Amino acid sequence: MSNTAHDDEWVRKPASASVGTNCTAAQYDSMYAESLADPDRFWAAQADRLDWIKRPTKIAGWNYDPVDIRWFEDGKLNICHNAVDRHVAAGHGDRVALIFEPDSPDAEGRHITYAQLQTEVIRMANTLKKLGAKKGDRVTIYMPMIPEGVFAMLACARIGAIHSVIFGGFSPDAIAGRVEDCESDWIVTADQGLRGSKIVPLKANVDEALEKVSVKAVLVVRHTGGEIAMREGRDHWYHEVSQGVDDECPCEPMDAEDPLFILYTSGSTGSPKGVLHTTGGYAVWTETTFRYVFDYRPGEVFWCTADIGWVTGHSYIVYGPLQNGATALMFEGVPNYPDHDRFWAACEKHKVNIFYTAPTAIRALMREGEAHVAKHDLSSLRLIGSVGEPINPEAWRWYHEHVGAGAVPVIDTWWQTETGGVMITTLPGAHDMKPGSAGLPFFGICPQLVDNDGDVLEGAAAGNLCITRSWPGQARTVYGDHDRFIQTYFSTYAGKYFTGDGCRRDADGYYWITGRVDDVINVSGHRMGTAEVESALVLHAYVSEAAVVGYPHDIKGQGIYCYVTLKVGEEPSEELAGELRQWVRKEIGPIATPDHLHFTPALPKTRSGKIMRRILRKIAENDFGSLGDTSTLADPSVVETLIEGRQNR
Ligand code: WTA
Repeated sequence: MSNTAHDDEWVRKPASASVGTNCTAAQYDSMYAESLADPDRFWAAQADRLDWIKRPTKIAGWNYDPVDIRWFEDGKLNICHNAVDRHVAAGHGDRVALIFEPDSPDAEGRHITYAQLQTEVIRMANTLKKLGAKKGDRVTIYMPMIPEGVFAMLACARIGAIHSVIFGGFSPDAIAGRVEDCESDWIVTADQGLRGSKIVPLKANVDEALEKVSVKAVLVVRHTGGEIAMREGRDHWYHEVSQGVDDECPCEPMDAEDPLFILYTSGSTGSPKGVLHTTGGYAVWTETTFRYVFDYRPGEVFWCTADIGWVTGHSYIVYGPLQNGATALMFEGVPNYPDHDRFWAACEKHKVNIFYTAPTAIRALMREGEAHVAKHDLSSLRLIGSVGEPINPEAWRWYHEHVGAGAVPVIDTWWQTETGGVMITTLPGAHDMKPGSAGLPFFGICPQLVDNDGDVLEGAAAGNLCITRSWPGQARTVYGDHDRFIQTYFSTYAGKYFTGDGCRRDADGYYWITGRVDDVINVSGHRMGTAEVESALVLHAYVSEAAVVGYPHDIKGQGIYCYVTLKVGEEPSEELAGELRQWVRKEIGPIATPDHLHFTPALPKTRSGKIMRRILRKIAENDFGSLGDTSTLADPSVVETLIEGRQNR
């Protein structure tokens, strides 16, 4: 990946009024200033766009030491009402809420209006109630990218149940761990999913997970019609059990700080954390960020290519667009099926106005050449965005030039599962862009760069990215483990939220995210804890020790590099390498498949037994010149062996 970033490479925002009616540069400046000077007033005004059962009078109510985060605390609302019912009540029931583009371009798609969405969500909500789910209960959703996944999320929100969506690419073990962690008694799934014509055995995975944990009921949506097992008493076909449910289901009045959802995400240590988002702050944050960042105008078609199993899908397929009454496209398939032009074919077919995807997809499509793009009429596109990992300037330029016809603004949005929505980006009508830089902070966001000692860096500088003040969409805790929340995010630099990302701020105040500085890697925009892959590897009977690091990968951004030492008597072989790859896939899921297995007789350790990951990262990067001080190693010769092993590959 070539990374020739230039601080002075400006791409000017379009001069015409075709973008940016929501926010000009002058408006951004004054709104940003107000959001910091008087956050209560600013956020009360944003919150006013929502329907509240009880309008909040307390707006910001947070403290980072001790950590206690609340927003709109005395307000009451229901986010499903805001995403669905209020649009119908306002006479927009005929507006299309969701466009479903199926895996195969020949299969039948769906256009679901807000009125139909309301009917569907009520049906799902009453079905969940019929199975016993109620306010405060955790409901696991393990679904393909089909509208029923969205119905299930909104149905939970409607009845006050807490949804925990698990990405369809996760393994049975990963499902079991998550179901157990949040003590979820219900699972909503489908018979099977489809991705690039390949079957994803969702229900079979759930069955396998349920050999380890138990739930009260599994609700199964029929999608492919494939053969699956149904266990009497536990498993229910949605089309059967939903028969005859009531066609009314009032939205449960929720306190602003009542939990809305849990989403598991990887960190530096241990198993994935259940990041908890609450109702009011998340509602306001996703409504506001969607409105300003994507400069949305009524009637436009918005397409976010993420999966609803990730936070990007939560915030920008479901809650952000729907609260704004937008038309959101959801796509079941993959960018290269049936051919590498699928994204562009779908953009043309549905006249997509705003398109939002990940750098890994852009790089993969770039490799296939621009002819795939040129085949299609993309004149409907008005704004294109990127999320999930740093976008290298080369990919940025290609995206801008070929997908955006050299004219459409690109927004590079930096944010995290924990932040609930976009934190740093240029706004399309307000700011000129720089390829490779996310840009400027969104309203209310106070980024700060600190060095490793926690000293604050001013002006143009590079350091660790912290956020000094809370914002409405901030995660409130780790489900069931507030200490872990504090430990993970607020202990590295006391009194600040630490993002885990490295970042540079240039002389123009633009932020350039450089990637994770902790033991989290970003593989094709998917967050992965190196510790998770390590624990999967050492579960294998032949493995004695494993150390996993990220290394630069042309398409994926980062690849997974595994150093493995075998138990005495076991011999490395290509066959074993293949077996270990399969093993990790089975333990975690296909997204965790190791790219590189490096068998080594030993790992570099300090005398106290700590693995020196810095060295392992450098070796994986083929950067042998700057290994730094290796004299503290218990056995410095290990490094030579590792370098040899790397060079022989
Ligand atoms: C990375 C995804 C650079 C970053 C919304 C962050 C980015 C992690 C960008 C969060 C971006 C996300 N530029 N890096 N525009 N967006 N990241 O929780 O390392 O899946 O910490 O949330 O992705 O990943 P997560």
